[in-house]
Amino acid sequence: MIYDIITDYLPPRLGLLFFTMSKRKILVTSALPYANGPIHLGHLVEYIQTDIWVRFQKQRGQECWYVCADDTHGTPIMLKANDEGISPEALIARVAKEHLADFVEFGVAFDNYHSTHSEENKLFSTYIYEKLRDAGHINSRSITQAFDPVKEMFLPDRFIKGECPKCGTADQYGDSCEACGATYSPTDLKNAVSALSGEKPITKESVHYFFNLANFSEMLRTWTAEGHLQAEVTNKLNEWLEHGLQEWDISRDAPYFGFEIPDAPGKYFYVWLDAPIGYMASFKNLCNKQGLDFDSFWAKDSSAELYHFIGKDIIYFHALFWPAMLDGAGFRTPSAIFAHGFLTVNGEKMSKSRGTFIKARTYLDHLNPEYLRYYFAAKLNAGVDDIDLNFEDFTQRVNSDLVGKIVNIASRSSGFIQKRFSGLLAKTCSEPELFQYFVTHQATIAEHYEQREYGKAMREIMALADKANQYIDDKKPWLIAKEPDRDQELQEVCSMALNLFRLLIVYLKPVIPSLATQAEQFLNIPTQPWPEQASPLVNHAIKPFVPLMTRVEAEKIEAIVLASKENLQATAPIVKAKQFEPIASTIEYDDFAKLDLRIAKIIKAEHVDGAEKLLKLTVDIGDETRSIFAGIKSAYAPEDLEGRLTLVIANLAPRKMRFGLSEGMVLAAGPGGKDIWVLSPDNGAVAGMRVK
Ligand code: MSP
Ligand code: ZN
Repeated sequence: MIYDIITDYLPPRLGLLFFTMSKRKILVTSALPYANGPIHLGHLVEYIQTDIWVRFQKQRGQECWYVCADDTHGTPIMLKANDEGISPEALIARVAKEHLADFVEFGVAFDNYHSTHSEENKLFSTYIYEKLRDAGHINSRSITQAFDPVKEMFLPDRFIKGECPKCGTADQYGDSCEACGATYSPTDLKNAVSALSGEKPITKESVHYFFNLANFSEMLRTWTAEGHLQAEVTNKLNEWLEHGLQEWDISRDAPYFGFEIPDAPGKYFYVWLDAPIGYMASFKNLCNKQGLDFDSFWAKDSSAELYHFIGKDIIYFHALFWPAMLDGAGFRTPSAIFAHGFLTVNGEKMSKSRGTFIKARTYLDHLNPEYLRYYFAAKLNAGVDDIDLNFEDFTQRVNSDLVGKIVNIASRSSGFIQKRFSGLLAKTCSEPELFQYFVTHQATIAEHYEQREYGKAMREIMALADKANQYIDDKKPWLIAKEPDRDQELQEVCSMALNLFRLLIVYLKPVIPSLATQAEQFLNIPTQPWPEQASPLVNHAIKPFVPLMTRVEAEKIEAIVLASKENLQATAPIVKAKQFEPIASTIEYDDFAKLDLRIAKIIKAEHVDGAEKLLKLTVDIGDETRSIFAGIKSAYAPEDLEGRLTLVIANLAPRKMRFGLSEGMVLAAGPGGKDIWVLSPDNGAVAGMRVK
């Protein structure tokens, strides 16, 4: 690193000498996406952020390897495969293909994409576990957990539902009540049933294995203080370290899709144990293919750099467990963890119902992936703040920067060169100082890329683009072209503009690699390295200009939102089924026929003192008025509800709740939060109408 800093300040010749000596060895990872769902735009913040960094390092001539894999183990993946009636192996093979296809089209260029369900990963997971065990960092003891007697499996919290121990509201999952906000342990739920079988869970004891993280408190304290983390992350870690580190449950009982623990038949490594080891496994797999030396990257005394790009939700795993595991097993620890924030769309959390939970594939069906790469780059910095994709801003930014500023330089100048000079650039560079001005900016731009301050890099590049356009505006080649005796000047001006264009493209290459490649072809030049030094193209033949990028059309974005809503309709569970939770079991028609479903008019809606999520509704169901508590406060203010219609179950037995008697149940649709809908008052329904 030090040599690299020196090269920026040394005369070119010496710099070159140091440069060859200073080639860095870098291994980079992005978090491994779960194999139970598609890649979406939120994920892409991370993969694009990492890919830009890796491309930049490679362009600078560093030895840089980028590996990733699918994260394939765990209960949700096992259950999803079950639901589809296929083996987990078949499921993860299909998803891996889909993930990789998405990544390739977004230009995310892994050097290796592997799987956590691999030989290499099994080997390393076992090795690390045994090292930790032999060094006394693993304990085992019996714990009690809920168990589904029908499915014969232990139930993770999110697969248990029952009545809230505090307010009695039915159908509450896991560890907190949606109605009253109480938190509890799933074993406290009343009349609890398994969400998988609908059967009452029993409690059962079983031996679990624990990683004693507290043994690494000192090591982690030192590591945290050594500058491997962003400031915000360091603060968070210090908080955790202050609170004292808890032991970590690293085992799960069969049936589980994962690796069996070597000395504990029927026990499996918890998915998060083998997931980060998947980084090593993927790299090992690459080493085998390419003849690289694994140890020089992972051994305790390695001088290679190791970076993990992750989202802020998985810092605990990467900044505590992972370094501790590595250290305990005798490996090197990461050089740095780079955490990023979450993607919001139009200022809000991605929402399936608003059509802003956009799959990578849906985007690719309509828009150029490099628009998004540029937009994310323009918005990314080195911090952990969330980043917002605002559709209007997106359209405007891409159109004005990439199309209006960058591509425009080439399209304005190349026509004259082609038509009047048979594609040949001028014999000399007419404005060497201007060219040099563009070259000297490489140092600042490089530093911004290196520091993951892509937003700053993009601003710097666009300021140069403005300068290039200003140059053309000042020279007015379209006027020069009208005067026959000013041919040479015309050729020089257009050549100058194209030389500036070339540098801009080189600077943008990590962000928009495909456009850059097309531009290199048009300019008839080889793949461009980072221009520590650069001389202008003179007396050089270029190829005919082909349009490099078209403008973002607003209709395409509308189409994406629409398609994302349609995805939802195809998959949405209907009434009151919670997002992602399987519906317990089927009911007979007779059970359904018992429901008295009615349209009700909301006469009054009121806040309930002390209730976080509930509103008290007074509804007219045709022949009478009822009071019903409904957990829809996150989506509606009381005044918005009055006068609206909703569906209710009119013959639900009245239920005594903490806040009063609830005489029925309101039905609404949507995934929750702000997205819950009752009916609109304009669809011809009237209070009391029966629904079946
Ligand atoms: N499988 C784990 C990671 C294991 S790493 C050893 C996981 N998978 S994930 O599919 O949920 O997420 C993969 C990465 O994408 C994570 O770093 C996560 O933070 C990131 N993102 C997922 N949704 C995101 C947004 N909406 N916005 C930004 N990043 C997001 O976690
Ligand atoms: Zn409750």
